[in-house]
Amino acid sequence: ELKDNTIIVVLGASGDLAKKKTFPALFGLYRQGFLPRDVKIVGYARTKMDKAEFDKRATSYLKNPNDDPQITEAIQTFKSISTYISGNYDEGDDFAKLNDHLKEIEAGYPKPTNGTPHCNRIFYFALPPPEGVKRVIVEKPFGKDLDSARELLSSLKQYWSEDETFRIDHYLGKEMVKNLLVLRFANVAMGAAWDKNHISNVQITFKEPFGTEGRGGYFDEFGMIRDVLQNHLLQVLSILTMERPVSFSAEDIRDEKVKVLRSIPPIAREDTLLGQYVAANGKPGYLDDDTVPHNSVCPTFAATTLWIHNPRWEGVPFILKAGKALNEAKVEVRIQFKDVTQGIFKDIARNELVIRIQPSEAVYLKINAKTPGLITRAMPTEMDLTYKRRFTETKIPEAYEALILDALKGDHSNFVRHDELDVAWKIFTPILHWIDGKDGARPRPVPYPYGSRGPKELDPFISKYGFKRADASYVWPVTNLA
Ligand code: BG6
Repeated sequence: ELKDNTIIVVLGASGDLAKKKTFPALFGLYRQGFLPRDVKIVGYARTKMDKAEFDKRATSYLKNPNDDPQITEAIQTFKSISTYISGNYDEGDDFAKLNDHLKEIEAGYPKPTNGTPHCNRIFYFALPPPEGVKRVIVEKPFGKDLDSARELLSSLKQYWSEDETFRIDHYLGKEMVKNLLVLRFANVAMGAAWDKNHISNVQITFKEPFGTEGRGGYFDEFGMIRDVLQNHLLQVLSILTMERPVSFSAEDIRDEKVKVLRSIPPIAREDTLLGQYVAANGKPGYLDDDTVPHNSVCPTFAATTLWIHNPRWEGVPFILKAGKALNEAKVEVRIQFKDVTQGIFKDIARNELVIRIQPSEAVYLKINAKTPGLITRAMPTEMDLTYKRRFTETKIPEAYEALILDALKGDHSNFVRHDELDVAWKIFTPILHWIDGKDGARPRPVPYPYGSRGPKELDPFISKYGFKRADASYVWPVTNLA
């Protein structure tokens, strides 16, 4: 509660609303002693007028039908705590002038004993709509679960239409994520094998080599699933699995994304693996971060398996996994195909299509070829499109560059629509509530050392879903092309 040293700034102070409603309401509260001690009211609007004219307007709707002297006196003091500044709504200099005025008032407030200034400002926006286009770009977190996200969406909706709203998920601005639509729908060869008949399992992996490092205060409240899986990785999944859109228009694309997401049931607890990093190799554990509560069970690593109930994907596990403080920085999609019919081959490697989102963008397909020479033996090798080698002259834009430009153009294709967000939360809310302890004891994440590949439980977790680790002797030759 604001008890003292508060300025209430009314923007749009010369307007009808201010005159008829805002100032009378402020006066009513003031007179009844509900406003903070020493409150000051500052009106700001475009109209040029002197203090007397402002006072006349601001008090013109204050009622005193019986000329009660107490009210007359209160109106006088109300005038004495009010000031007015005129300026435009699109001029930095004018706002600087307003700010100087506020600072001047604040300089007069008593200094608190510990020396830190203690001045509060409340801004009341009663402004005419600006002419022309209005757009708002909003960043995550978009709520913490289904209910809070819905609340947030509907409160923003009162002021900003869907058309004006650009909800950012910066993964949608990454070159390789944008490339998914082209890879899938511009290539017959890719499209032909893109289903449960050919694909055994899919992993979407996010790895970071650093921990929360001072950002633990934010992170601990959210955890790995809300930070990365529910948004970034699910977005990648939806583009990877959606049906072909009728066109590249924003609504056609987002219609298909929503459709596939709606075919995914909430994640089951048994399809979830949670981890938390501990100190290793001279690096601190998550709980050693001063900004983290000492007994936190917040997951810094999470793997979850999602299932899509539609004819294309029934039975194919999609494993989303993300972790902080791991052994490397990498984000990739790994599509593992089924075993080739046995008989002429035995124990032959599976095809894998890897889409490396970062670092060093690449698409490569692991294929078997005859070992060159006078023998007939298959060996795993690859067809490789590494961007740095193939597109030597091209600068790949930053995700935020691409997205801000899209917002300027009014293109919503790579922004999150309200119903997309809603269904994304439906998928994750039950396990998040379980992790938050809403259904009983909070699950304990398993420990993993800082700088490792993740919890030791990870390999068994993935193989449970049919993933077969490739022959250890195979290494993608471009791995070190940083
Ligand atoms: C953010 C997360 O959304 O994405 C961070 O809040 C994470 O925790 C970041 O580090 C990763 O983004 P990028 O572009 O570096 O992969």
